Amino acid sequence: MTGKAAQLPHIVLAARREAIPLAVAALRAGNLVGMPTETVYGLAADAADATAVGAIFLAKGRPRFNPLIVHVVDRHAAGAVGVLAPAAERLAEAFWPGPLTLVVARQPAAPIAGIALAGLSTVAIRVPAHPVARALLAAFSGPLVAPSANRSGHVSATAAAHVVADLGAAVAVILDAGPTAIGIESTIVGLAGDRPILLRAGAVPRAAIEQVLGTRLTMADSDRESPQAPGMLASHYAPAAMIRLEATSVRPGEALLAFGRTLPANAAAAVAVVNLSPTGNLAEAATNFFAALRTLDAQAASIAVAPIPDEGLGEAINDRLRRAAAPRN
Ligand code: TXA
Ligand code: MG
Repeated sequence: MTGKAAQLPHIVLAARREAIPLAVAALRAGNLVGMPTETVYGLAADAADATAVGAIFLAKGRPRFNPLIVHVVDRHAAGAVGVLAPAAERLAEAFWPGPLTLVVARQPAAPIAGIALAGLSTVAIRVPAHPVARALLAAFSGPLVAPSANRSGHVSATAAAHVVADLGAAVAVILDAGPTAIGIESTIVGLAGDRPILLRAGAVPRAAIEQVLGTRLTMADSDRESPQAPGMLASHYAPAAMIRLEATSVRPGEALLAFGRTLPANAAAAVAVVNLSPTGNLAEAATNFFAALRTLDAQAASIAVAPIPDEGLGEAINDRLRRAAAPRN
C-alpha cells in the first residue's frame, strides 16, 4: 500500500447493528469489507463475485494459486458449498461455530467464483463464532470468502487499526469490534483424502480434534501424496525485523518477545520488551501474539523470541514463529 492513511477512502465503523446493512451494501456492490472474527480480522468479499474476489488477491498481493477460505453461517450453508462426509459432520458438530476450517470436496454447483478456489476441486469452509461475522453472514445470506486481512506474507491483523495499516486503501468498510479474542487463525483440517490431515495448526489444539476423530492427525508435510495448504509458504507472518527463535539471551540492539516468568539473560538491555503472557498462559500468548510482533517491529530491526512450549496452542504459535523467522525472498 502506498497511500497515506488520511487519504484513504475506507470507513471504520463501530460494529454495531446499524453498521451491518452498510457492510452488506458494500459487499453487494462488489467491494471489500474488513470483518472481525474470533481469530483474526478477515478481508471479506462476495464469494460468488469473481471481480470482487480478484480484488482480494490484488489488495493482499496474494499469489493466485493460494485459495481462500469460504465463510458460511451454519452447517446447512456449508453443505451447499462442500460435501460433508461423516468425519466432517463430527468435527462440525463439535467445533462449529468456531475456529476450525475443514477442507472437503467442493459441491459442483457451489455458488463460488472459480478464482476463489484457485482451480481446486476442494474447498476450505469455516463457520465463524464471532457475533459480528455471524450477523454479517446472516444479513448477506450467502458465502463470503475472507483471508486474513493483512498484506500477503505479513503479520496477521488482530485489530481494525492493523487492517487500516495493511489494506486501508482497498477496503470500503471495516467493522471495528475491538481486538480479536483468540488472536491466531483457525486450525485447518484436510478431509478430502484417505486420512485426516492437519494442514495448519491453529486456534483449536490438535489434541481436541484427534479426540473427536478418534485418530491421529497426519501432518501436512510428512506425507507427500497429500495436498498441502497451498498458502503455507515457508516465509509467512513476517514482520520487517529479523526474528531469532529460542533466545536464551538478548543481544545488543534486539527487542525481546518474552513468555512466562523466566526472562532470557540481558532482558533489561532489550530495546523494547513485550511479554506474551507473564504467567505462562498459552491462550493469553496467542491473543497477544500478532499485535506484539507489530509493536516490536516498529521499534527494532531484530527481535529475540524466548522459547514457547510446543503443546496446546503453543504448536500454532511456534508454527507462526518459525515462518516469521524463515528466510525471505
Ligand atoms: O481464522 C482464519 O482462518 C482466518 C479468518 C479471517 O477466518 N482466515 C485465514 O485465511 O487465516 P488465510 O487466507 O489467511 O489462510 C487460509 C489458508 C491458506 O493457507 C490457504 O492456502 C488454505 O487456507 N486453503 C484455502 N483453501 C484450501 C484448500 N482447498 N485446500 C487446502 N488449503 C486451503
Ligand atoms: Mg493469512
